[in-house]
Formats: sequence, structure tokens, C-alpha cells
Amino acid sequence: MNFDDLIKKCKKCHKCRLRKNAAQVVPGAGDPKAEIMFIGEAPGANEDREGVPFCGAAGKFLDELLESVGINRKDVFITNIVKCRPPGNREPQNDEIQACRPWTNTLIKIIKPKVFVLLGRFALNKFFPNFKISQVHGKAYKKWGRIFFIMYHPAVALYNGSQREVLFADVKNMKEILKNNLSNVEILDKPKNEMADLLKRKRAEKRKKENQLKINL
Ligand code: URA
Repeated sequence: MNFDDLIKKCKKCHKCRLRKNAAQVVPGAGDPKAEIMFIGEAPGANEDREGVPFCGAAGKFLDELLESVGINRKDVFITNIVKCRPPGNREPQNDEIQACRPWTNTLIKIIKPKVFVLLGRFALNKFFPNFKISQVHGKAYKKWGRIFFIMYHPAVALYNGSQREVLFADVKNMKEILKNNLSNVEILDKPKNEMADLLKRKRAEKRKKENQLKINL
């Protein structure tokens, strides 16, 4: 499936209850060949009306953050964990998140971003379910050969002005990390060790089966 087909298909999605109240599906926007993918939570009222992610107040602040480090939103790809607006802007529920998961996963497969910027705890939870955003915001991790940078959701700054500076500091840190050849990135996957463990386990299973055979004979 190519990018355009995916977007067309996603726009017709009725896999969960969110579509009933939403004006339209908001699959995402930006460069389909982007190296950086931003993932937020869910469309709000403006996004629902316009069909574009982060085009309301939180989006304006996201633009400010990007601008502060010289990034233009047309050069990145922006999507959300759920692609339809939850009624009254409530939090997306687990079954809705699960229903929407394949759309995000296929977007990732097609766009192949090298870097993910996870905006808020719903995006964080998709990739790092055990992480707490208060402990990992402003940090970068490497997993599956990709870089994940974690930030608070831009909307927090709308409710709590003191968080603005935290977000500006975090986005600056993100730019530094990307510029400095990723030297401050914590590596979470160790493919070589994982491979060695897997081989060890397979050999042990084989030995166990051979021993069982001997007993049965
Ligand atoms: N908040 C989000 O998480 N996504 C949007 O698109 C807008 C607001």
C-alpha cells in the first residue's frame, strides 16, 4: 500500500465508536518522506473541523516550539494516537487506541521516520508503556534502531503557563541531540545480546526435546 492509498483508506475508517461523533478522520499531515514523526494524542474540535492535526491552540504552540529550533512543520509528519476526535475532547479509551493502532503502524512502515517525537503520555505509552512522562520528558532513547524523543503534550502549556519553558527547553534539547550525532541517546535495545540469548534459549529447547525423545524410546 502506498501513502495516498493509506490516507484514503484511513479516512473511511469506522473501526471504533469515535467515528460516530467525529466530523471526519484526521490521519495526519506533513511530508510523507519525513525523517521525523510527531505523535500526539487525538484531534480536538479545530482538527475535527479542518481535517488537519494540531491546527488549534495546541498546534499554534507546537508551531512556536518548532520555529524556536528552526523546524518547519511541512518538513515533518504529524499524526495522533487516535485519528478521530473523542467526544468533548475526553481521553481516548484503550479499545479506541487499539482499533487505531494499525493506522499508525502502517504510517510508520510507509514513512519510515528515523526519529519519533512523542507528545504526551498517550504517545509515550504506545512505545514505552512502563515509562513515566515526568521522568523521561526531554530525553532521547534508541530502540529498534530508531530514536524516540519524549516531550510533554503542548496543550499542558495552555493550562499551566509555567510548563511553556519546560517545553521550550525540551525542544531545544531535542535539536541539540539530533545535531550532535545523537550522543546523548540512551540505547535501550541491544540486538547482539538479544540474539545471543535467543540462540541460547533455542539450543536449550532443542536439548530438552532430544532428552525427552530418549526417555520415550
Ligand atoms: N492535540 C492532539 O494531541 N492532537 C491534535 O491534533 C490537536 C490537539
